[in-house]
Amino acid sequence: MKRSTITINYYSLGFLALCVFLVRPVISDCLNSYDPNVDYFPDKVDNRSSGFVVSYYNSYKIVTNTRVGETYVLYCTATPPNLTYAHYIKGYFQIPVKNVASLDQTTLTFLEIIGAQSSLRYVGKKESITSPCLQDTTIQSFDDSSVANVDIVFSSNTTSTYENKSVIVSMGDDLSPLSNAEWVKFVSIFFNLEKSANDFYSSIEAAYSCNMNNVANIVKKKTIAWVAYDFNTGMYTVDNDKYYSLLVKDAGANSLNIITGSLNVSDLHEVINDVNIIIDQTKFTPGNDSFDSWQRLFGYYTTSTGPLPDFITHRRVFRPKKLLNANGFDDWSERAYARPDIFILDLIAIQYPTYLSSYKTTWLNNFSGSDEPTVITSANCTDATQSSVVLTCQSRAFTGDQTNSDTGSNGNTVGDSKLKTRSILIIVFSVLAGLMGIAAGVWLLTLAKRKYEERFIELKDEPEVQMKKGDAENSKANNGSKVENKV
Ligand SMILES: *[C@@H]1O[C@H](CO)[C@@H](O)[C@H](O)[C@H]1NC(C)=O
Ligand SMILES: *[C@@H]1O[C@H](CO)[C@@H](O)[C@H](O)[C@H]1NC(C)=O
Ligand SMILES: *[C@@H]1O[C@H](CO)[C@@H](O)[C@H](O)[C@H]1NC(C)=O
Ligand SMILES: *[C@@H]1O[C@H](CO)[C@@H](O)[C@H](O)[C@H]1NC(C)=O
Ligand SMILES: *[C@@H]1O[C@H](CO)[C@@H](O)[C@H](O)[C@H]1NC(C)=O
Ligand SMILES: *[C@@H]1O[C@H](CO)[C@@H](O)[C@H](O)[C@H]1NC(C)=O
Ligand SMILES: *[C@@H]1O[C@H](CO)[C@@H](O)[C@H](O)[C@H]1NC(C)=O
Ligand SMILES: *[C@@H]1O[C@H](CO)[C@@H](O)[C@H](O)[C@H]1NC(C)=O
Repeated sequence: MKRSTITINYYSLGFLALCVFLVRPVISDCLNSYDPNVDYFPDKVDNRSSGFVVSYYNSYKIVTNTRVGETYVLYCTATPPNLTYAHYIKGYFQIPVKNVASLDQTTLTFLEIIGAQSSLRYVGKKESITSPCLQDTTIQSFDDSSVANVDIVFSSNTTSTYENKSVIVSMGDDLSPLSNAEWVKFVSIFFNLEKSANDFYSSIEAAYSCNMNNVANIVKKKTIAWVAYDFNTGMYTVDNDKYYSLLVKDAGANSLNIITGSLNVSDLHEVINDVNIIIDQTKFTPGNDSFDSWQRLFGYYTTSTGPLPDFITHRRVFRPKKLLNANGFDDWSERAYARPDIFILDLIAIQYPTYLSSYKTTWLNNFSGSDEPTVITSANCTDATQSSVVLTCQSRAFTGDQTNSDTGSNGNTVGDSKLKTRSILIIVFSVLAGLMGIAAGVWLLTLAKRKYEERFIELKDEPEVQMKKGDAENSKANNGSKVENKV
């Protein structure tokens, strides 16, 4: 008797669970037979400090981009909700939106990550697309006549107005790397793909934080500076906005403690001569972007102005131009804001190729070396979900290489040539250590001999030779270990 009651209870529990599963609202029901008591948006994004807030109601959402002060109403019903404060609202959109234009480059990446790429009709410039799975598709370049064919135009340009279809996405260098990436959630709200965006953001936040914590205790930090030459003004900039300075700090390095601004060449040299690694963002005319022109442009071509800084002599000048499409557009411009998890790995790898020896930098190329760009084409599209793959991170303590000097080549050359360089270096240092040991021995011998001669005057039969040998060997071992620390 008792037993059967329990069984029945289990059955009813199962039935309840099934009911919960079955009543998960369907968006098409909202459109066709709308029930005001049903929450049609079970997946929600939370309010964070990245620059937008969203309020969820049963059949509509009110989204505000707080950085530009624009509010949009997104609804799943056949007609827009009747709101009393309608005059605040910049645009009404029936969701999920079906046809979109994305004039903002990062938004392409967001659309692909959440799985909404099939709604993408237009981008600013078709030839600039680097994503392998979006190249060679029916996506067109946008012009003003395209507005009629889309429901929404995602743009970062606040002055452009495409009727009432503009939605402003506001990533920027004044936001932290993770805050910029969090705008994937903003985009997802228009497609009811909040769950995809939440899942993706959680995984990049976890990977980013794990790598950040791993390199938080580097003993001797390196300094990284972001520079650019502006051909219009003839001035130099050192980028130190929140985005760049936090990325550098989170990657275990020091950023320069200056305010972003324009500098002349002598001021620039004063600011950057002591940094360990330079990342250049100068917009060179195509074909004029050699390290040679860079050195001329930045006043480092001759030694007449004094000794060249370490980043020139040790060749530690990078540019984010490693991954290009066939038209020469770089993938970094398209994806960097969306993928701080990749960017932090690149920044760690250029400082410490051994941190993750299997990782080759994705975007940063050793511009001062022979790190040739890689071209990605549609042939590199293997799977529609490849854009949301996140490299997981194992938490561990990494204290760096204890030195500011160059320790090898870029992360992409883990292989024979690097091992060879390593062993050559070790041999060179061992030989040096040996030579120093011998020199020390000779010096001690001379010293001892002199002492012996001095003592010889006083005491004649002293067993000198044994003691001399021991001293020389100790001093050789000490010199050897000192040199090895430096390697
Ligand atoms: C976000 O903040 C707004 C007000 O700023 C509030 O109305 C809304 O309920 C919040 N949304 C969530 C999902 O917490
Ligand atoms: C808004 O009001 C109009 C007319 O008053 C009505 O036809 C429409 O269904 C209402 N919309 C919603 C979502 O309730
Ligand atoms: C834009 O405004 C027109 C009328 O001016 C209106 O019919 C249309 O629904 C509006 N579209 C959006 C997306 O708000
Ligand atoms: C923004 O849009 C306006 C108007 O369409 C245009 O004149 C301007 O050049 C655009 N600015 C940028 C940075 O794209
Ligand atoms: C560079 O600018 C500084 C002021 O910031 C000025 O003192 C200096 O003379 C300038 N140098 C050159 C070469 O123009
Ligand atoms: C190429 O770079 C050099 C400086 O390194 C500059 O003098 C020259 O004007 C540049 N040429 C073009 C076409 O931009
Ligand atoms: C850059 O490349 C040059 C030449 O291949 C090499 O000597 C240098 O060590 C590399 N720099 C870094 C930081 O990997
Ligand atoms: C793209 O495909 C080419 C040719 O198969 C390959 O060599 C290259 O490594 C691929 N690049 C990336 C980033 O996967």
